[in-house]
This record gives sequence, C-alpha cells and structure tokens, in this order.
Amino acid sequence: MSKATNITWHAATVTKTDRRVQNGHGSCVLWFTGLSGSGKSTIANAVSSELYRQGINEYVLDGDNIRHGLNRDLGFSDYDRTENIRRIGEVAKLFVDSGAVVTTAFISPFRSDRDQVRALFKKEEFIEVYVECPIEECERRDPKQLYEKARRGEIKDFTGIDSPYEAPERPEITIRSDLLHVEDAVGQIFQYLQQKNII
Ligand code: PPS
Repeated sequence: MSKATNITWHAATVTKTDRRVQNGHGSCVLWFTGLSGSGKSTIANAVSSELYRQGINEYVLDGDNIRHGLNRDLGFSDYDRTENIRRIGEVAKLFVDSGAVVTTAFISPFRSDRDQVRALFKKEEFIEVYVECPIEECERRDPKQLYEKARRGEIKDFTGIDSPYEAPERPEITIRSDLLHVEDAVGQIFQYLQQKNII
C-alpha cells in the first residue's frame, strides 16, 4: 500500500518488447530459494557467468550483498524478511523491465512472500528455482559457520533451526544440489530458458 498521494505512473517510451528486439533475448527473473548453505549463490553466479559469456544481459541480486546496502536496515525477524523480499521483488522487476535475465539468491523462506513477488510479473517472467538440499547436508557444509553458531544459540531466528523454511510447492525448476554438480545445475536451467524461448 502506497503512502504517497498525487503520484502518477509514467509509461516508458522504450518498452520491454523494444529491448527484446535489440538484445535478441527475453528477460526474466530466476528466483532461487533454499536454505542457507544449499548453494543458491554458487549456482546463481554460475548461471550468470554463463549468460554473460553468451552475451546475454544478466545481473545477480544476492542476499548477503543486498543486506550490506539497500536493506541494511533489515534483520531476520519474520517482518524484516518479508520486507527484504518485497524490496528485492521490486528491484528484480526493474531489472526485468530493463531487459535483463536477473538471478536472485535469497533464502526467501515464506511461500506467501515469494507468491507476492510472483504476482508482480507476467507468468513466463517469474521462474522459481528451488535449490533443494537436506538441512543435514547444509549443516555439514556450513561455509560461514552459521549453523554452528545457531546451534550454540549465538544466532537467533536461524532458518531451519529456530525460524521456518517453507519449501515451494510448484517451483518451475528444482535443483537437487546435494546430488548434482554445479555445471549440471547450470545445464538444467539453460535447458529451461531455451525451451521457454527466453534465450
Ligand atoms: S531472507 O530470509 O531471504 O530474508 O534472507 P537473505 O536475505 O537471503 O539472507 C540470508 C543470509 O544472511 C545470513 N544470515 C542468516 N540467514 C538465515 N537466518 C539468519 N538468522 C541469518 N543471519 C545471517 C546468511 O549468510 C544467509 O546467506 P546464505 O547465502 O543463504 O547462507
């Protein structure tokens, strides 16, 4: 709900369709969701690198990075996570309007938040990518020693420990990151993008 009054929407003169023609590819958001340590950032960055290599306009929005700037006022309460995802959704929409293939790597633990973001896009523009990995494996990897800290009670509201993660029910793509190599995950995503005529 907007607080501002007396504001008017201005339609841009250069449209997404114009950009598609000029770029030679479509735009969309690959919305990665999964537990901390599931491999979201690794796979999102690998996808982005390959898109870049192929001359496709791309950009990665990553959880830890966005929390250093745009969302540095937000923590990890349910309310703050919802606001985090709402803002990222709006930013992703701008990138999609600009003609890019944007990859986002946020835990985005709440189904309703992800569905709100989905609602900002046309059906074919929002691709939910569930990076599925058992919590035992995420905890074994524990690249930032955050599970260790959460178990010791040094981090509160840690996803999967004392804060919930609601897995997607009908994601467009599911990646079993405990079973697949990163290159195979990238291949799976490229196959989808090609099938849908986005790239
Ligand atoms: S969320 O839930 O979508 O708003 O989270 P996100 O913006 O993706 O940020 C997750 C990264 O923040 C670090 N971190 C935590 N994660 C979960 N729970 C708690 N309490 C927490 N505190 C810090 C952690 O590095 C997450 O990064 P990833 O890449 O997911 O491991």
